[in-house]
Amino acid sequence: MATLFYEPSTRTRLSFESAMIRLGGSVISTENASEFSSAVKGETLEDTIRIVHSYADVIVLRHFSKGASEIASKISAVPIVNAGDGAGEHPTQALLDLFTICENKNINGLKIAMVGDLKFGRTIHSLLKLLSLYKDVEVKLVAPNLLGLPSSLKLELSQKGLHLEESENLKDSLFRSDVLYMTRVQKERFTSEKEYKKYFGKYILTKELARKMKKDAIIMHPLPRVNEIAPEVDKDPRAFYFMQAKNGLFVRMALLSWIFHKS
Ligand code: NCD
Repeated sequence: MATLFYEPSTRTRLSFESAMIRLGGSVISTENASEFSSAVKGETLEDTIRIVHSYADVIVLRHFSKGASEIASKISAVPIVNAGDGAGEHPTQALLDLFTICENKNINGLKIAMVGDLKFGRTIHSLLKLLSLYKDVEVKLVAPNLLGLPSSLKLELSQKGLHLEESENLKDSLFRSDVLYMTRVQKERFTSEKEYKKYFGKYILTKELARKMKKDAIIMHPLPRVNEIAPEVDKDPRAFYFMQAKNGLFVRMALLSWIFHKS
């Protein structure tokens, strides 16, 4: 497996690498491909893929441009796994998120609140697409007006029958939710620091706010967190985000073994 990462990562890259090693495979890796690969010399993603696909049986790609994995998959002779493409998608995170939800809650009739940067948050985009495959899932989208879910995605999801409701208020969204999915403001997608600061810290789950949640709700976050969940919440038995990250290993092991048994 080659991990080709043009953007920072801790969980995604290391869990993919650990998954491959645990399955008995091996790994070649470029963790900062924007600086340490031939991209610095001006090589295109297309050319890089034309080379790397001769060195590995699967390529796990994280890139800063939306659609990069799709482009790579048209060129590559080996499977490409999208490990995040800019503000586009993060499908393997969605799989591990869904796994975490299904392990702990009944997906039918689920009420989930998704909070934070829904415009640029790729984990949100992909998880919503998975949730739209189920009946009776109710989603509360909690974001500042200008960081709301892209309207094209909203339309696509509504057409699939997903029940979406929008709000700017975190407090009001806590009482009824079975899952609270927090996300950080995606700093790297903003063109100015000033613009980013307008939203930074808008939604913070504190111990006091967590008291308003259902007793059997679960709190999720794809991580990394900046300040969206106060560290004091970590001790709450409803805090599932570290378990969620651990599930990434198992889900990625399953995905890799599926890829190799299929091909
Ligand atoms: C997410 C990502 O990269 O999109 N992180 C992850 O893979 N767990 C979320 C984020 O960076 O905010």
